[in-house]
Amino acid sequence: ILRSPQALQLTLALIKPDAVAHPLILEAVHQQILNNKFLIVRMRELLWRKEDCQKFYQEHEGSQKYKKFSWHQCLDEGTLFAGRFFYQRLVEFMASGPIRAYILAHKDAIQLWRTVMGPTRVFRARHVAPDSIRGSFGLTDTRNTTHGSDSVVSASREIAAFFPNFSEQRWYEEEEPQLR
Ligand code: TYD
Ligand code: MG
Repeated sequence: ILRSPQALQLTLALIKPDAVAHPLILEAVHQQILNNKFLIVRMRELLWRKEDCQKFYQEHEGSQKYKKFSWHQCLDEGTLFAGRFFYQRLVEFMASGPIRAYILAHKDAIQLWRTVMGPTRVFRARHVAPDSIRGSFGLTDTRNTTHGSDSVVSASREIAAFFPNFSEQRWYEEEEPQLR
């Protein structure tokens, strides 16, 4: 059997409650996905339970991640105490209204989506990437419009969290070859 060379990378993208609540912003973000030639592999809209948010961000964004950082790195990254001070706020916000989840495919999906989103923090986004999604629509560091996976490992974990029946391998084998 001929295996697909897996020319396309997958990432998980979320449109957060602040943007889903505003039809024009939702449409503008969706349009950015199309403009950047992502392939929309799956899409669903859902209301996230608080426990799901906690689980999603605890493994990935909780204090664990920041324990590895030295003080200087924390300061450089602008994320001092980040493992704690925004966690509760983030979880409450992500469960506060409908969100939209996508599996996006592109040759360079993970990095490209993060570039299209712009920096995490809203003032930085407005300053260095005013045309990015967060630069255009981000309201605060927490209500920053979109989420994107940050690595291949987190992409497959995050895709599984939102699309438990999706098999990456099956998708590559059955669909990706036809797209090439
Ligand atoms: P992080 O993974 O650092 O950013 P990104 O979303 O760009 O990968 O943080 C996850 C989310 O946590 C971020 O999208 C919004 C929230 N957050 C805050 O509310 N305040 C902050 O200072 C930071 C760094 C993040
Ligand atoms: Mg992140």
